[in-house]
Amino acid sequence: MKAIIPAGGLGTRFLPVTKEQPKEMLPVVNKPVIQYVVEEAVAAAADDVLIVTGRGKRAIEDHFDRSAELEDLLERSGSIDKLRQVRQIPELANVFYVRQGRPRGLGHAVLCAAPHTLDQPFYVLLGDVIVPQGTCLPRLKEVHEKYGASVIAVQPVEREYVSRYGVVAGREVEPGVWEITDLVEKPPANEAPSNLAIFGRYLLTPKVMELLPHVEAGRGGEIQLTDALRELLKHEEIYAVTMDSPGFDTGNILSWLEANITLALETEEFGSPLRESLERILGETVV
Ligand code: G1P
Repeated sequence: MKAIIPAGGLGTRFLPVTKEQPKEMLPVVNKPVIQYVVEEAVAAAADDVLIVTGRGKRAIEDHFDRSAELEDLLERSGSIDKLRQVRQIPELANVFYVRQGRPRGLGHAVLCAAPHTLDQPFYVLLGDVIVPQGTCLPRLKEVHEKYGASVIAVQPVEREYVSRYGVVAGREVEPGVWEITDLVEKPPANEAPSNLAIFGRYLLTPKVMELLPHVEAGRGGEIQLTDALRELLKHEEIYAVTMDSPGFDTGNILSWLEANITLALETEEFGSPLRESLERILGETVV
């Protein structure tokens, strides 16, 4: 299955660092965010990846390309591990690019991928969301194969935060699987139909590409994917699955900090020294 990674957004939540550099290229431990996203797609056998980029996003293309000068230097200096690391990146996947022209919203970004996905179902992975466990896409696929429908990953959030997300309403048809009855993009907390927030991973049927060109600008004046899915609901069933482990929305500074600490603590290289640093900084034992 093909994977679409929208990465055309301006990263306004992370200014000023994102003034000139793509938010998808922010480091988390030692890799840019988007490398985690591509690796997640590849691990789910989606090694045909289309990244929807835009103005100021060239660093993404360079990252997934060969870097001859750097490779020569590492080879000459005998840094074999680093050389292997660098060479492995362009070999991760078949990465294609399309430019969005103007950042007109997530729905518009997905529509830019229509000539690539044709009449096949496809994954959408938001380029600034890291989902570390690797279980999300296989779960979406499993539910898609069972019900023959689009499937969205959701996560329960505190009511006060629902206005940051697309929110779904539905009825639970089996533990953790919901048949969606409504979707709303970033509703005010008192109007949200539930606390199940859309969290950056989708498996969509091709019908949504037929509907997207007719979707009008919604929340924030942007063409919203959530609005297109609301239209899709008039034609097809849509399911939601609750995710067993939370991801990190790295476009949000606090979540990016958490991603760095959580993922660094899991590494052999930084795990124990970082734990010691945190204990020292906080003056208490970190569990
Ligand atoms: C987008 C989607 C929203 C979803 C969110 C997840 O919003 O439009 O439905 O809940 O990603 O991170 P954005 O964060 O790009 O404004």
